[in-house]
Amino acid sequence: MDRERLLKYLADNSVESVSEVHTFSEIDSTNSEAKRLINNGIEDIQLVVADAQSAGRGRRGRDWVSPSGCGLYLSLVYPFSIEADDLQGLSLIAALSAHAAIRNLGVETLQLKWPNDLLVGNKKLSGILLELHNDSIQTWVIIGIGINYKLTDDQRVLIGRPVAGVSEFLSEPPSIEQLAAVVTVELLRNIGEFISSGFSTFQSEWNSNDGYLERDIVIKKGNSRKIGLYKGVDENGSLLLQTADGLQRISGGEIFPSVCETRG
Ligand code: BTN
Repeated sequence: MDRERLLKYLADNSVESVSEVHTFSEIDSTNSEAKRLINNGIEDIQLVVADAQSAGRGRRGRDWVSPSGCGLYLSLVYPFSIEADDLQGLSLIAALSAHAAIRNLGVETLQLKWPNDLLVGNKKLSGILLELHNDSIQTWVIIGIGINYKLTDDQRVLIGRPVAGVSEFLSEPPSIEQLAAVVTVELLRNIGEFISSGFSTFQSEWNSNDGYLERDIVIKKGNSRKIGLYKGVDENGSLLLQTADGLQRISGGEIFPSVCETRG
């Protein structure tokens, strides 16, 4: 990670709200480093970026394979004065930001998967891990974003799931510093709008870029399974599922294609 290059991209995009940018050639996890910054008493927005993570973390306790040169590993630390309950849509905002940034670089076939994955076809290109920490004054949110950049065959085997990297789709891929900067710019812009207007202004953007819209799905959360027709997200970012019992609003879980659809 060329720190000066990253700082220049951020300055060129008028990013002034980030008070410090922390860059590492390797760290355990940018989210863990962000947590340490909060514990050490930071007071404002900070960015942590690493070339490699030795203990990258994904959602649901999974690892996030993070070797050097293969991906962007970035965490934005942001203090919110809104109640934690009102931050539900933020996870989707983070995905929309990465989506817009990568689309603007020219990856046109990119789609969203609720609540915060980016896919090309059935291949995962990006994942997001949001972590909240309350202190007496505010709620700190760590927005951890992993974007696959350039994957070798060995890494694809190690990951063990269909994955895609940004550089596969572009004849002139951005540098990792440029990718970090454009994602940060979109994040800061969208968070500002989320704070002033909530999620509702993003609802239609989400629904028009969601790869599962109007498909039969299963939502899994713990031992619970819900089957239905996916109708997109509501004004708060909750998932709308048309089930045999009516329209349900779901705020947590993971989407899978339904068996019926897989067979069909
Ligand atoms: C997922 O499981 O889809 C979420 C993956 C999140 C990975 C990113 S990489 C930067 C940040 N640091 C971590 O340890 N995890 C997140």
